[in-house]
Amino acid sequence: MLDIKPTGAALGAEIRGIDLSQPMAEATLRAIEHALHEHEVIFFRGQRIGPEQHVAFSGRFGELEKHIRVECCKPGFPEIFVVSNVIENGKPIGTQDAGLFWHSDLAYMARPSRGSLFYAHEVPHDDAGKPLGDTMFASTTAAWRALPEDLKRIVAGRRAVTSYAKGYYRDRNSGPRPPLTEAQKARTPDVEHPIMRTHPYTKKPCLFVNEGYTTRIVDLPPEESGRVLDLLFEHVSRPEFVYRHQWQEGDFLIWDNCSTQHRAVFDYALPQRRRMERTTLTGTAPF
Ligand code: OGA
Ligand code: MN
Repeated sequence: MLDIKPTGAALGAEIRGIDLSQPMAEATLRAIEHALHEHEVIFFRGQRIGPEQHVAFSGRFGELEKHIRVECCKPGFPEIFVVSNVIENGKPIGTQDAGLFWHSDLAYMARPSRGSLFYAHEVPHDDAGKPLGDTMFASTTAAWRALPEDLKRIVAGRRAVTSYAKGYYRDRNSGPRPPLTEAQKARTPDVEHPIMRTHPYTKKPCLFVNEGYTTRIVDLPPEESGRVLDLLFEHVSRPEFVYRHQWQEGDFLIWDNCSTQHRAVFDYALPQRRRMERTTLTGTAPF
C-alpha cells in the first residue's frame, strides 16, 4: 500500500506519496513502521511541517526522549533536539557538531533510543548547488551477518561498556564543550550492552558496538579488547553496509538506532547554514 523505493544500498528506502502535514490513518502508520523495520532507514521528501506536527507524528511511534543537553533543545519543545551550525544573538541554536563519529543515539544509556526522526530545515550547498553535510548510515544487521566467524566467536555472549563522556569530548569542530555537569554525569553512568544485540521487533542480530561511545569489552584483557573493538569499528562502517544520504530541504528521515549506526559528514561552514531537528524515540534494554 505504500510506494516504497529502496536506495539500492544495504539499507534505506524512500517512501513516496505521504504528506506528513495531513492526518494519518493508523494502518498507514503501521505500514511505515513496518517499512522502517525492513529498510532500517526511511525517508519522505518535500515535507512541510511545524514543530508541533514533528512531535505529534513522532509520538505516535511511542514515548519521546528529552535530551540531557537542554541548551540544544528547541525553545518550548524539549523533545526537539536541534542540530545546527547557526548562531543567533551570539549563541548556537543547537549542537554544532553532533555525530562526527559512528554511533547510534543514546547508545550510552541503559535503554538506548529505538529510533530518531530527523527533519531537514536548511541544508548547506556548495557554489555549484550540490548539497553538503550528508549523513552516512551503516546497517548493523548486514555488518553482523558478514562478520568473520572467528570474530563472531570471540564476541559471542560478551558485553561491552559504553561511555557518554567518550563521545561528548571527542572530535569537536566548534571548540571544546563545557565540562559535563554533575547532574549530566549522574544521568549517564557507564553501562554494559551485549555486543550482539537482537532487534526487538525483527529479532535479527545486530552488531551493537560503536566507535563513538563503546570503550571496552568486558572480561577481555585491555589489549585484546582494544584490538577486537578496532576490528569491529572498521567492519561496521565498510562501504558495502553504508547508505549515504544527501539531504534536501524538507526531507523527513527516520533511522532505527538498533539496526543502524550513523555519522555526520562535516564538509561545510558558515555562511552555509545547516539546520536540522530531531526527535528521539525511547527504546528498551538490549538483549
Ligand atoms: C544526530 C546526528 C548527524 C547529522 O542528530 O543524532 O548524529 O548528520 N546527526 O547531523
Ligand atoms: Mn546521532
